Amino acid sequence: MKILVTGGTGYIGSHTCVELINNGYEVVIVDNLNNSSIDVIDKIQQITGIKPVFYQVDILEKDGLEKVFEENQLNAVIHFAGYKAVGESVAIPLTYYENNISGSINLYQLMKKHHVNNLVFSSSATVYGDDFDVPFKEEYGLGTTTNPYGTTKKMNEMIITDMCKADSDLSCVLLRYFNPIGAHESGLIGEIPNGIPNNLVPYIAQVVSGQREYLNVWGNDYNTPDGTGVRDYIHVVDLARAHVKAIEYALNHKGTEVINIGTGKGYSVMEVLKAYEKACGKEIPYRIMNRRPGDIAVCYADTEKAERLLGFKAEYDIDRMCEDSYRFTRMLDK
Ligand code: NAD
Ligand code: UFG
Repeated sequence: MKILVTGGTGYIGSHTCVELINNGYEVVIVDNLNNSSIDVIDKIQQITGIKPVFYQVDILEKDGLEKVFEENQLNAVIHFAGYKAVGESVAIPLTYYENNISGSINLYQLMKKHHVNNLVFSSSATVYGDDFDVPFKEEYGLGTTTNPYGTTKKMNEMIITDMCKADSDLSCVLLRYFNPIGAHESGLIGEIPNGIPNNLVPYIAQVVSGQREYLNVWGNDYNTPDGTGVRDYIHVVDLARAHVKAIEYALNHKGTEVINIGTGKGYSVMEVLKAYEKACGKEIPYRIMNRRPGDIAVCYADTEKAERLLGFKAEYDIDRMCEDSYRFTRMLDK
């Protein structure tokens, strides 16, 4: 079985390629290396013993992308490629809509033309917005997004759902990720933030490595046990394994399914900070700041559907997520 992985040298994509290869799939990666490095291909080979086929192609360039479909007999596509920075999407919305929507439409059109009927798409818990009560359930549907990035995820979900209604051969799994963190246990692949990290764990990692003085804790007056924001952090390797399950599901079913991928458990900012302190053996300086605009108090998944349809349940706890993140950061510093 040959799987096209767009964005396969990125953070979640690279871990997913490792799990796919470990489960006997052939992997073809398409990435323009906008937010990742070619070295990742060698790292995947070091971990798995197999070098994935790689095309440095921008999904906005349809001719280049079509060559990949012509040269490979593909069974399915996992579509990670896209921009993901919430703040940046507010500043340059058209760039986000072009890459995340036009790029995706190019891909879906080529899938149709070349009769590739199975798709797994990277969606996000951000599509729930602030409209619903936790735990977030898939049946809630789409909430009000608060930034162009989130809207591109919502629009992709709508486009894919319409495609599936129009074509009964299609099988599409829309995975709504909660908060992926951590890294591969080898320390060879992980998340390398571009510039000042926006996300909690990459920021903590830079405080620990001395690149930043202290963590800004965005608000401690939320209606949560310690007042700081609560999120459903999931180990990126667990998330990668969920993609293998989703591919198996797509290959054996038709139609669209929306599935949350989280642990079902929420941790506060202070709890994550404490877990990271345990992992690195140091105290991590922090300051309580005002709330960050657009943040919600609590976000965690109802995981029943992932368990029922995919047989997927996350295995790693917050301590392991922080240990693996710390190991990767130390390898980067070397
Ligand atoms: P990432 O930036 O590490 O990976 C995305 C990859 O896509 C990068 O390697 C980048 O170079 C590539 N890319 C971007 N535009 C491209 C284009 N036009 N053509 C070819 N390649 C292109 O991000 P990630 O964290 O691995 O996220 C993967 C997907 O999951 C994204 O769609 C993201 O929106 C989604 N997602 C991520 C999170 C998260 O917290 N990391 C949460 C929910 C959803
Ligand atoms: N936080 C801090 N300090 C920081 C960074 C974050 O206190 O320096 C807090 C936030 O206020 C929030 C929690 O840590 O309470 C998590 O924040 P992240 O930025 O790590 O993650 P978010 O839940 O805000 O957003 C992430 C992704 C989005 C995605 C969303 C839902 O960044 O792209 O999860 O999947 F849409």
